[in-house]
Amino acid sequence: MRDPAPAHLQRRPVTATARLLLGGPVALLTAHDRGRDNVMPVAWHMPVATRPPLVAVAIEQSRHTADMVSHAEQFALSLPGRALLHHVQYLASLSGADVDKFEATQLATFAATHVDAPLIAGCLAWVECAVQEILPFGDHLLCIALVVAVHVDPRAFDDRWLMRDKELRPLQFLGDHYYTLPHDVLEARLPGRADAPERVLAERAAEELELTREARERRAERMDELTRELTAGRIVDIDAAERGSLPLWLPTPGVVVPDFALPPEATPEADERGER
Ligand SMILES: Cc1cc2nc3c(=O)[nH]c(=O)nc-3n(C[C@H](O)[C@H](O)[C@H](O)COP(=O)(O)O)c2cc1C
Repeated sequence: MRDPAPAHLQRRPVTATARLLLGGPVALLTAHDRGRDNVMPVAWHMPVATRPPLVAVAIEQSRHTADMVSHAEQFALSLPGRALLHHVQYLASLSGADVDKFEATQLATFAATHVDAPLIAGCLAWVECAVQEILPFGDHLLCIALVVAVHVDPRAFDDRWLMRDKELRPLQFLGDHYYTLPHDVLEARLPGRADAPERVLAERAAEELELTREARERRAERMDELTRELTAGRIVDIDAAERGSLPLWLPTPGVVVPDFALPPEATPEADERGER
């Protein structure tokens, strides 16, 4: 028998899933087809395979971009930061079928290396894609594409998003006209090797995840010890303390992100004008 659901849970329509699963960086999808450029913001994208490097983007069939990408079989993703917040929302309010969005917004672009689609200047990273397959699902086309080139601003990304400067963090979409920037960088404890007998693994998990009262008490003791050391001025280098005997669970020194306000709660009445 499973436990009953906690009393504070509320039911939501199944369409809430799309927003629940949002979380990757917003991308500006650019395409070049039959002599014209276009750009549309996308949030429904995901990596699909590493070998070969494939990504997928779900494009609603009504979008002008769906027609362009189907025909050109190429596109690019430019990943903006906060500087392009208002541009992102504005670009989603127009259709390339009616207006030249580059003309309207005066967005600067530069040449991609492997595709004809333009890359958008002032973004943080760029992914060039060659379409492999387009599969219709409901009202969307799932475009599966091979990544043919990637470029990054190294101040924003090396082998992961660095998150150091607020202006150099990837913009994320919450739905409607709300966005967020990833906030804290949290470093998880690295679990020990997993090839031990089950009993040893269970003991290790209890220790590493502090599942037992003893583990929690040990943590409290270590915390007291650290507080005493800090108060006495005996620790000045938290990095060194962490590498030594002091707690594994200290916040990483990389967390230097000041708090800032999140937008008010997003309202769910959005999809029509292309505001997901
Ligand atoms: C942040 C954001 C993300 C979006 N993501 C998608 C998406 O993943 N797929 C999609 O079909 N539409 C998405 N849209 C809506 C399109 O960007 C919008 O309808 C756009 O105007 C289509 O342009 P087009 O007609 O020139 O192709 C998104 C809108 C916003 C604001």
